[in-house]
Amino acid sequence: MRQVRIERLGHLGDGLGEGLIVPRALPRELVEGEERDGRLEEVRLLEPSPDRVTPPCPHFRRCGGCTVQHLRDEAVAEWKAGIVRHALAAQGLEARVAGVETSPPASRRRAVLAARRTKKGVLAGFHVRGSDEIVPVPECRVLHPGLLPALPVAEVLAEAGASRKGALDVAATLTEAGLDVSVTGGKPLDEGLRTRLAQLASRHDLARLTWAGEPVAQMRPPVLHFGRAAVVPPPGAFLQATAEGEAALVARVRALLAGSARIADLFAGCGTFALPLAERAEVHAVEGDAAMTGALDAGWRRAKGLKRVTTEARDLFRRPLDPAELSRFDAVVIDPPRQGAAAQIAALVQARVPRIAHVSCNPATFARDAAVLVAAGYRMGPVTVVDQFRWSPHVELVAGFGLSHMPGGERE
Ligand SMILES: C[S@@+](CC[C@H](N)C(=O)[O-])C[C@H]1O[C@@H](n2cnc3c(N)ncnc32)[C@H](O)[C@@H]1O
Repeated sequence: MRQVRIERLGHLGDGLGEGLIVPRALPRELVEGEERDGRLEEVRLLEPSPDRVTPPCPHFRRCGGCTVQHLRDEAVAEWKAGIVRHALAAQGLEARVAGVETSPPASRRRAVLAARRTKKGVLAGFHVRGSDEIVPVPECRVLHPGLLPALPVAEVLAEAGASRKGALDVAATLTEAGLDVSVTGGKPLDEGLRTRLAQLASRHDLARLTWAGEPVAQMRPPVLHFGRAAVVPPPGAFLQATAEGEAALVARVRALLAGSARIADLFAGCGTFALPLAERAEVHAVEGDAAMTGALDAGWRRAKGLKRVTTEARDLFRRPLDPAELSRFDAVVIDPPRQGAAAQIAALVQARVPRIAHVSCNPATFARDAAVLVAAGYRMGPVTVVDQFRWSPHVELVAGFGLSHMPGGERE
């Protein structure tokens, strides 16, 4: 037995103390347990933290979806703000975190569920922490109530089309027309399976069902609004995880780029930013996935009263917009995947685009890219943390960069 005083939370939400990882322990707590391979196991809590709360979800102990449900909301927000400050400090940058906008419980509109056949029947839910075992989560506290029916749907899909060995990945999105479900990892589609899946889609009133990229049923177009535009995203497309998180990001980006007339939206997805921004500015939306730019373009064409939006399907890692192309914009919104946008940031710096709204889902690559902007003379405004994955270690943020002023700095 070893007693350990927890020093801090690690990046994955575990307690860290005396060189050991202690799952579900909180800073300043005293715990006791068995030391195994750098971890403390069979942990007993001797002195609990005042920040400790009863996890609201009955699945918390097994489910790998949430890691810090036992921590008070304000302390979770402070932990996430600290992750951002720490990442920036590692690059020699200091930033004010202007706030943490946490999505409410039961607001996740998109989730990838796991589902498999078992000897006793079928199982659908999330993975157990650090394992490929599946835990059913009928009382999950993060999923939107409208998304919960995706759990029994995932079960029947596994019954119909999972192979004996593998698990299905069931990406489910709650759209304005109902559930949009896209499945990978199942049996190959033959006529029998296609008919069965179409029957299931109809019985469960799915808006759309896609199997290994192939549409098998569409009852209604799975539509979502971005500002005034109604968009039908391609199956499995990226979407911000909660409507509240999306609204917070869009509001901040709009404020940061207010007054700009020609905006480039880089890593544009299906138009989360481009379409609302087009209410006031012309927008050129660039995205690697042609199906997404197609959806964005179709949404713009159907919408009324928007300024011109052009789209371009382009790999921005290999072929970033170059300084000559960037010279026609007075502002850029950039929202890269976890790897960040090193090549595109280098070109932005050369082009000296006056204003940049930078959205990121990875504080480490954000800080790396921010350091390049700051070294080139940009001023960084305050950072807003947008927490769409409450109770998980995931951190998203938005910040403004300007050449002549500090965007967003007016709130200081
Ligand atoms: C974090 S998402 C943001 C999407 C969009 N801004 C939104 O908020 O819905 C990143 C986007 O980058 C796209 N992407 C990934 N790698 C890319 C690349 N090399 N070139 C261009 N786009 C890429 C993805 O398809 C995805 O749509």
